[in-house]
Amino acid sequence: MPKLSQWFIKSAVIYVILGMLMGITMGMKQDFTLAPAHAHLNLIGWVSLALMGFYYNAVPAKAEWRAAYAQFWISTVGVWVMIPGLILTLLVVPAGEPLVIVGSLITLIGMVLFAVNVYRR
Ligand code: HEM
Repeated sequence: MPKLSQWFIKSAVIYVILGMLMGITMGMKQDFTLAPAHAHLNLIGWVSLALMGFYYNAVPAKAEWRAAYAQFWISTVGVWVMIPGLILTLLVVPAGEPLVIVGSLITLIGMVLFAVNVYRR
């Protein structure tokens, strides 16, 4: 398995553990305020990043692309900025909004870069 795949999958499992803990905490407290942040952490952090990891394992030549590691880091920073921003926004902390905007744009750039790699010859 390419190292890049391992990077994606190793970080994705951390996000899903955090996401599940968040889900369990919401259930225990019966407070679902953070449900959208839980959903995005799981669906971007776990599902999307793990899919990228499995893709790079299925098509290892794509992991050799010069920008492939940049794509990993851009997608990673996207999660790191967007999810805390979303949590703060849901908690009605004004500082959250710029973070969620910037984080979601970084996340989009990561996905566009991934798409470029997928379509590249
Ligand atoms: C231990 C595992 C998990 C627990 C305990 C858990 C718990 C929860 C809870 C309590 C809610 C809020 C329900 C409500 O608003 O009534 C929720 C929503 C949701 N969860 Fe999870 N969850 C888990 C794992 C996952 C995973 C792995 C995913 C996706 C891959 C996921 C995706 C979602 C989505 C999409 C929502 C809806 C969010 C919304 O309505 O804004 N969850 N979950």
